[in-house]
Amino acid sequence: MPGKELCVVVAATLQWGIGRDGTLPWKLRGDMKHFRKVTTEAAPGKRNAVIVGRATYESIPEKFRPLKNRWNIVLSSNTAFRDSLPADVASCSSFEDAVRLCQDKEDIDRIMVIGGARCIKEALQRPDCQHIFFTRVKAEVPCDTFIEPIDDKTFQENPAFPKVELEEEGIPYEILLLSRKPPSIVD
Ligand SMILES: NC(=O)c1ccc[n+]([C@@H]2O[C@H](COP(=O)([O-])OP(=O)(O)OC[C@H]3O[C@@H](n4cnc5c(N)ncnc54)[C@H](OP(=O)(O)O)[C@@H]3O)[C@@H](O)[C@H]2O)c1
Repeated sequence: MPGKELCVVVAATLQWGIGRDGTLPWKLRGDMKHFRKVTTEAAPGKRNAVIVGRATYESIPEKFRPLKNRWNIVLSSNTAFRDSLPADVASCSSFEDAVRLCQDKEDIDRIMVIGGARCIKEALQRPDCQHIFFTRVKAEVPCDTFIEPIDDKTFQENPAFPKVELEEEGIPYEILLLSRKPPSIVD
């Protein structure tokens, strides 16, 4: 049986910045709506898992966490922190363990890695990471947290999900789907 779909969901600037001062450097309602939609929509009777680093999880306002209608798995090496999480939130001390947990859980549809930088890096290194729901922020927004550039030799824009161009509060951005190139066309 093939494994579950593993995806990354991330918004980054042209310089690959994703965060500042422990939070998002922008407030883009259209992107938040897109994030909610792609992470929540799942096959009937199932829900998606979201794998999230400890800092990102803590940056979500308390009233919005755990992210509802999604199975939240928080990564941390700190046992006391992990023990303090609510019972309906899973936690793991390694990315591999988190993916395995999702693969083994029958009612989980997609495995969605939502940041921060380390778990996105770990996800993108895996050959079974098929899709990146990518928001490209086309403005010079100062950031202190960065991901590595997404390799366009490995991922290409997926025409099945037409790119959406938006602008909010003077920040132009586009929402697109990047998918892993089939092995035959990796150059
Ligand atoms: N633009 C976006 O799409 C986006 C998405 C997510 C986050 N962000 C932003 O990015 C910033 C936070 O990201 P970050 O990279 O600094 O932190 P992060 O990845 O959210 O959290 C880092 C912590 O997570 C734990 N962790 C991560 N990977 C782990 C692994 N493989 N195994 C065990 N523990 C692991 C560790 O916790 P312990 O220290 O407890 O061991 C680590 O110190 C914020 O500014 C946030 O708003 C932006």
